[in-house]
Amino acid sequence: MKNREQTICKDIRRHGQDILRSDLFHQAGHETHHLRSSVSDHSLNVCITGVRICHFLRHFGVRMNEKDLIQASLCHDLGMIGREDKYETRRTAWRSHADESARLAKTVVPDMNDAVKSMISTHMWPASGKRPETKEGAVLTIADKYASIMDWAGVITKRRYKDKIKKEIL
Ligand SMILES: [Fe+2]
Ligand SMILES: [Fe+2]
Repeated sequence: MKNREQTICKDIRRHGQDILRSDLFHQAGHETHHLRSSVSDHSLNVCITGVRICHFLRHFGVRMNEKDLIQASLCHDLGMIGREDKYETRRTAWRSHADESARLAKTVVPDMNDAVKSMISTHMWPASGKRPETKEGAVLTIADKYASIMDWAGVITKRRYKDKIKKEIL
């Protein structure tokens, strides 16, 4: 594994350990997402992509709160767990899961700050009305869209996105 990838793993483990080891994140591994992915797999893809963007922007002098970004990306879709029972329709799930994820994230990260909560609640932008309030929030929305496309591409190519890094993290 290259140095750059090792740094990503180290950062995600450092700031996301409690989330990765939580029962809720474990449950997220059993919730299908984007056809053949799971909520936990997709969330790790988003997290890895987000951290890569963070490291890239650092070269241009843009400093990000990596801890906030890692916490928010690992929790951003937790509201999708049990969606068949929780929401009446797919549309409701799609509209409501961001706020529900923010609520659930607080149970996994009790000292979660308002910036992380806001990032999770706005991650569906621009599809949903609420716009990200911070640069970390903007990075989360971009990483989420990119990782979602890669999840769907994996259905066609049968290659799972970022498998090597994920194995190292877990
Ligand atoms: Fe989402
Ligand atoms: Fe997502």
